[in-house]
Amino acid sequence: FAAVDVVRAKRDGARLSGEQIDWVIDAYTRGVVGDEQMAALAMAVFLRGMDAAETARWTGAMIDSGERLSLKCSRPTVDKHSTGGVGDKITLPLAPLVAACGAAVPQLSGRGLGHTGGTLDKLEAIPGWRAELSADEIAAQLEDVGAVVCAATPTLAPADRKLYALRDVTGTVESVPLIASSIMSKKIAEGAGRLVLDVKVGSGAFMKTRKQARELAASLVEIGAAHGVATTAVLTAMDTPLGAAVGNAVEVAEAVEVLRGGGPADVVELTLALAREMLALAGLGGVDPARVLASGRAYETWCRMIRAQGGDPEAPLPKATHVHVVEASKSGTVTALDAYGVGVAAWRLGAGRARKSDPVQSAAGVLCLAKPGEPVERGQPLFELHTDTPEAVAAALPLLDAALTIGEKGGDDSALAAAEA
Ligand code: URA
Repeated sequence: FAAVDVVRAKRDGARLSGEQIDWVIDAYTRGVVGDEQMAALAMAVFLRGMDAAETARWTGAMIDSGERLSLKCSRPTVDKHSTGGVGDKITLPLAPLVAACGAAVPQLSGRGLGHTGGTLDKLEAIPGWRAELSADEIAAQLEDVGAVVCAATPTLAPADRKLYALRDVTGTVESVPLIASSIMSKKIAEGAGRLVLDVKVGSGAFMKTRKQARELAASLVEIGAAHGVATTAVLTAMDTPLGAAVGNAVEVAEAVEVLRGGGPADVVELTLALAREMLALAGLGGVDPARVLASGRAYETWCRMIRAQGGDPEAPLPKATHVHVVEASKSGTVTALDAYGVGVAAWRLGAGRARKSDPVQSAAGVLCLAKPGEPVERGQPLFELHTDTPEAVAAALPLLDAALTIGEKGGDDSALAAAEA
């Protein structure tokens, strides 16, 4: 094959053959096909699309570019993946909860880029906790504790690692077949037998409309089926942040509240809903995760999971050197709190990174003290901004001001209805 012929074929709207796909992904991974040719192909796929068979083959080629873990475990393995949202700390309470219910949860995660946070960045706020585990350590912890959240090893789907970085700088991220194959190549290579996908839809998500989100969900489920991984997807709203905390340490603190029987209702509800999906796939549909959560066993599993990776679950979490409180300028009802705006504000405060190599501040973030539907009085605190770089507050304030809308008391709730839809 010649790369330029593959690019031309897709440019002109042809289906790529399985052999063309296998060849181009392998040659790109080995550096035989260059970035400029792969960038042109990614753009052609972005504009022309790929059908289900092409997308499944593309995913398979990316899996085959690296190692496929085989997680032998005496319990059924089931993982969850979220397409990314603001304040989405659900993995933190969910993994130990599902483990405490009898399944095994191997979750190989990433770090955050842009306005959505990464699970590893959040857990790294815990003193001593270590993200990098060897394949043997993953297998041992999975058997012993039942839950592992750690860094994806560089040997998993290396083609995706390279291609994702290229897509990021060539305007080719937002393509359903490219996103779906990227996510599924990593998840299938990780070796979980079953997978629940939380496809986010709304202002804070990749997919802004339900139509796009449904299309992505369908593609993800089709790829899972084609590769023998039992996969289900749920669509959940990402118009407003999940819970109150957006950042790293602040999100860990909120997750621990949930594990101890408290926490914001929306975080508890989504955690339980996803736990039920995962348990049903794992053949444990008879176990009630709400009872296991209330029993404290999920919290015990959390402590074991954190300790197994060197962390101290009892140690105080890092605190920001500066906390700035924003108060309501008028009384009324919060009608909208835009997830994207809050995500960008937390990022500016230091919770996220602009480049892959940037460090994050563990203590930085935003606490949203009033959520859509809640009445507020003038002077009541709306946000707490946490940062170690006080000069960042000025950049975050206008974003938060634009993100939050206060309507007439008990009056116009149309924005609220939209946020909940
Ligand atoms: N997350 C991924 O892993 N890949 C994408 O392409 C988009 C989101």
